Amino acid sequence: MSRVLAVAALLVGLTGCLLTPHSDTPLDTGLYAEVMALSGDPVAGEEPYEANCRRCHGREATGTLRGVPIASYDVDEIVEVMLTGPGHMPTFDDLEPQVVADIAAYVNSLEPQ
Ligand code: HEC
Repeated sequence: MSRVLAVAALLVGLTGCLLTPHSDTPLDTGLYAEVMALSGDPVAGEEPYEANCRRCHGREATGTLRGVPIASYDVDEIVEVMLTGPGHMPTFDDLEPQVVADIAAYVNSLEPQ
């Protein structure tokens, strides 16, 4: 393949990747209600945040090139996003409901920078 064609193929591939979001998981409203009924513990949420979210959303949720800043976001929004994995974000519906509630409480408790 000529170099021009190779570059064109690469561009088409990249554009397709950027324009096609990974399919979001439909919201499991039962699981969402279960998590929202729990009382999240912000202190307990720090460790699972570090393990699951920090690589994209950064230390204290201030954001990185791979994920937007999310410090102080509302708990209901954080829970919904964790359960649906919009765009290029993975879905975290396999975590224990209490852990989801704790991570949401931790992120909600952080100050935006
Ligand atoms: C692989 C990188 C990655 C990981 C890991 C990740 N996220 Fe995300 N997150 C993203 C991206 C990318 C977006 C933007 C999604 C979109 O296209 O709407 C996002 C969006 C969000 C949003 C919504 C932001 C907005 O303004 O709409 C919240 C809240 C969020 N993430 C929370 C979390 C939490 C909590 C975790 C850990 C359980 C986590 N994320 C793990 C990449 C990631």
